[in-house]
Amino acid sequence: MICKLQDLEQAILNYNGTMSVLFPLIKDKFMEEIMTNSKSGLHDGEENFMHEFCCFEDEYYSIKKDIILNHLTTIPVIDIGCQFGLQSEIFLDMEYTGIEAMEKVFLNNSCDNINYISDIFPNKEMDLSGKIAMAIMSLGYFDYAEDLETIQELSKAEIVYCTSTPEFIAKLKNKFKFCKLLNPTNVKKTRISSGVWKFSNHEI
Ligand SMILES: C[S@@+](CC[C@H](N)C(=O)[O-])C[C@H]1O[C@@H](n2cnc3c(N)ncnc32)[C@H](O)[C@@H]1O
Repeated sequence: MICKLQDLEQAILNYNGTMSVLFPLIKDKFMEEIMTNSKSGLHDGEENFMHEFCCFEDEYYSIKKDIILNHLTTIPVIDIGCQFGLQSEIFLDMEYTGIEAMEKVFLNNSCDNINYISDIFPNKEMDLSGKIAMAIMSLGYFDYAEDLETIQELSKAEIVYCTSTPEFIAKLKNKFKFCKLLNPTNVKKTRISSGVWKFSNHEI
């Protein structure tokens, strides 16, 4: 479990962008989840790939570190475009809801505080008011929903952490009073994304 500040610091140090730090820790329970709940299972290529990449873990480590440092762990987090929800392991001590457009098997689905919605965001039943929204390499890249409606819904959140295209980030900047790039000095040469932006209407 990578939830505490010292575990996150260690994971950030160990993660070099080429091999997953998270996957060895969750592999057994994820494979069990796949065997129990997936019709097709994972093929060898997919499993091997997950040792290199199971989610944008560097981004999720930075977000969780920021949440801990700002004493925000009691606020529910919504992970938009969560894929398999492998990163839920970093939010096991919080109320975490993942939303995913594609049909997937989700990690930690049996935990009381971990929930998943198989749907497209924006979703009529999901209200982001008073919540932390995370959208890491999901919104801004796919054609599932109109940017205008998506941004409107995102702007209801207490805090938004987002990694996306420069165009999508620019649109979000117009909706919030404060924005900053999280840990710009953490950006490693090997990483694909340009870092996590944090948006809020309170000083951050
Ligand atoms: C590149 S993956 C990133 C997954 C994860 N956030 C991470 O950082 O590893 C993008 C995922 O977002 C999902 N996605 C994109 N737009 C979405 C939307 N509007 N609603 C729900 N899921 C969405 C896609 O189906 C895909 O599984």
